[in-house]
Amino acid sequence: MDLYGKMAATQDVRGKAEGGDQNFDYMFKLLIIGNSSVGKTSFLFRYADDAFTSAFVSTVGIDFKVKTVYKNDKRIKLQIWDTAGQERYRTITTAYYRGAMGFILMYDITNEESFGAVQDWSTQIKTYSWDNAQVVLAGNKCDMEEERVVSVDSGRLLAEQLGFEFFETSAKDNINVKQTFERLVDLICDKMSDSMDGDPAATTGAPTAKLTDSAPPLQQPSCNC
Ligand code: GTP
Ligand code: MG
Repeated sequence: MDLYGKMAATQDVRGKAEGGDQNFDYMFKLLIIGNSSVGKTSFLFRYADDAFTSAFVSTVGIDFKVKTVYKNDKRIKLQIWDTAGQERYRTITTAYYRGAMGFILMYDITNEESFGAVQDWSTQIKTYSWDNAQVVLAGNKCDMEEERVVSVDSGRLLAEQLGFEFFETSAKDNINVKQTFERLVDLICDKMSDSMDGDPAATTGAPTAKLTDSAPPLQQPSCNC
């Protein structure tokens, strides 16, 4: 059984069965990785809190935020881990790769070194995570066109070579932030449908249904008698 099959079989993922505040149908663990200062924390803040600050407070170790999204009337709780890019935290951060279903691998389009490091980050994913973890490559700070040193085509080509999806993003101007997360969630859902029965898409027969932030209308409770 692969990771998705295993996760589907555990009560951890089917939080509904646990009651309490575990009010979700699925939980996806996601990680944001990449060199220091590429904008990982800013990207997560934009997505989770719709906020941005130009101050740079480098992440110490690891942090996370939770966001719930809805797809085909299923609640998907995203546990999004924001890792420190600094080398000195590598031992801590790689310990969190295991069990991650999706990665956002980020570089900064104004920073050649961060782009050059993408291959190494990809190797880290292959070394420390589950084989079929889904990855989206994000070229962040696309609002800084005048300082661009990595072309869109170079980013796209590298993503193709690595077998990743690709977006250019801006946490500052809110460009493709939501789309990056949505695509990653879709990729994970697609992988789940390959691996098990009863995935969010398959159960409703609407595999292309859109991911939304708003809750579906309340359904009539089913009778258990
Ligand atoms: P570490 O925590 O050290 O790994 O860095 P990080 O990748 O989390 O970077 P962080 O989000 O802290 O951002 C670094 C700097 O880049 C900050 O000054 C942000 O304001 C800035 N920044 C982040 N995203 C963008 C963006 O999309 N556009 C612009 N112009 N600046 C950004
Ligand atoms: Mg950070």
